[in-house]
Amino acid sequence: MNFTKEDNLHLVLSPTKPNDQFFMAEILKSVIPQYDPIMPGAFQKWADQMEGGPLPDFIKNSLILSENEKLGFLGMVQITESVTYLMMLYFFPKYQRKGYGKTALNLLINKLKKRDVANLILLVNQQADWAISFYNKQNFQVISQNQATIENYCEAKMKPFYVPGTMLMGKTI
Ligand SMILES: CC(C)(COP(=O)(O)OP(=O)(O)OC[C@H]1O[C@@H](n2cnc3c(N)ncnc32)[C@H](O)[C@@H]1OP(=O)(O)O)[C@@H](O)C(=O)NCCC(=O)NCCS
Repeated sequence: MNFTKEDNLHLVLSPTKPNDQFFMAEILKSVIPQYDPIMPGAFQKWADQMEGGPLPDFIKNSLILSENEKLGFLGMVQITESVTYLMMLYFFPKYQRKGYGKTALNLLINKLKKRDVANLILLVNQQADWAISFYNKQNFQVISQNQATIENYCEAKMKPFYVPGTMLMGKTI
């Protein structure tokens, strides 16, 4: 059997506990150099908000662990029974581009399939070439770059989540 480098990555998705918000804020701060040129100040603000109090219950977060080392985290929202919105997927810079993103996404997709979720959607900044490249490689398609279309998606359930400058991508799982 042929193994790719990703096949050998043993990752675990572990639901976050209350104090994990500080770790998540550390990750958001670690990607400020990457995001500040396209979203000035946004990640410092989000990190500050995260440290200021827990996220709302409807956002389900998981730490992404390897051998008990915390590499990153993901956050998702169940938009409908069959549609999951991947709101956040972040790794510390030192763990990026090693196949962890692909492996974590596949782990998540396998979990969602067992719950009969059919579509995974996400918003990505239109200037975040690295993230668009990543999602393209994971077979996500652009659904829309138009604010009104995105806000009306899924009976307007995406409206509260719209972030200016982003586009909506999705994948049937
Ligand atoms: C985007 C992200 C989640 C992808 O996870 P990852 O573990 O780095 O991705 P993988 O190793 O599985 O896949 C690597 C591919 O992703 C893309 N990619 C990831 N980081 C990249 C970077 N810094 N520059 C260019 N391409 C990048 C490339 O297509 C790369 O393939 P290549 O190395 O053959 O060129 C991760 O890089 C990350 O946390 N980035 C910062 C936060 C972020 O932008 N999150 C997405 C928010 S929507």
